[in-house]
Amino acid sequence: PLVSMKEMLEKGKENGYAVGQFNLNNLEYGQAILQAAEEEKSPVIIGVSEGAARYMGGFNVVVAMVKSLMEAYGTTVPVAIHLDHGSSFAKCAEAIHAGFTSVMIDASHDPLEENIAVTKKVVELAHIHGVSVEAELGTVGGQEDDVVADGVIYADPKECKKLVDATGIDCLAPALGSVHGPYKGEPNLGFKEMEEILNTVELPLVLHGGTGIPTKDIQRAVSLGTAKINVNTENQIAQANKVREVLNENPDLYDPRKYLGPGKDAIKETVIGKMREFGSSQKA
Ligand code: G3H
Ligand code: ZN
Repeated sequence: PLVSMKEMLEKGKENGYAVGQFNLNNLEYGQAILQAAEEEKSPVIIGVSEGAARYMGGFNVVVAMVKSLMEAYGTTVPVAIHLDHGSSFAKCAEAIHAGFTSVMIDASHDPLEENIAVTKKVVELAHIHGVSVEAELGTVGGQEDDVVADGVIYADPKECKKLVDATGIDCLAPALGSVHGPYKGEPNLGFKEMEEILNTVELPLVLHGGTGIPTKDIQRAVSLGTAKINVNTENQIAQANKVREVLNENPDLYDPRKYLGPGKDAIKETVIGKMREFGSSQKA
């Protein structure tokens, strides 16, 4: 069923595993993510950035597509459709009214007071609709669609506490050294801050930039209250590599099903691997 993230993340935090957010880029991602979740009996979060939604035809198209796929597949595991890095109250409201079950308001680039004000507004609307809310503090490095950062700023535990208390959000993404896209070298995650945040904030934490984080760091983050991990680039790389390989090996091939199909299978395999690594398999 289509649900908010609230319960799945609380369960994850309580039982020591994280639920993956896998980003939707087109139909094949929806197929791959939902098939993987059902096979693994795993809860799943389908993340949709504003740019990806635009590409697919808007929030209504996204919701209709995910719902129809779930119906066609007879999906039994909990699925959330989540706005990734929502840029404004208006965008969050649009997603909520289109049927998203969860939204992220990313005002992390604004001063704390402004971040709190807009996040609070989003929570008020979202909770009327049973929709969960994620907020961010600090800066995730790298670039994802419209979200560009030129540096990495670690979230301040005291500000996290303030934001959580003032807004009533359901989960918090404190940026602690993670990066969107591939890492240059090993990531340097702020586990000390993560522990401090875990101890001051009674909420599931979210880790952005899941691509390229070593398993030992994933495990440590999960042990420190991380209950949601976002992955996009790794699926894109797996798909692109597969499509390139198939087209290179078959220069006369032109039927999209013959190269996008294997690309979809590559996404599915990657998602299954993450679900096992995050510990969410067999938890639905
Ligand atoms: O919000 C989406 C994620 O943080 C994805 O990060 O593309 O580095 O896996 P990634
Ligand atoms: Zn992100």
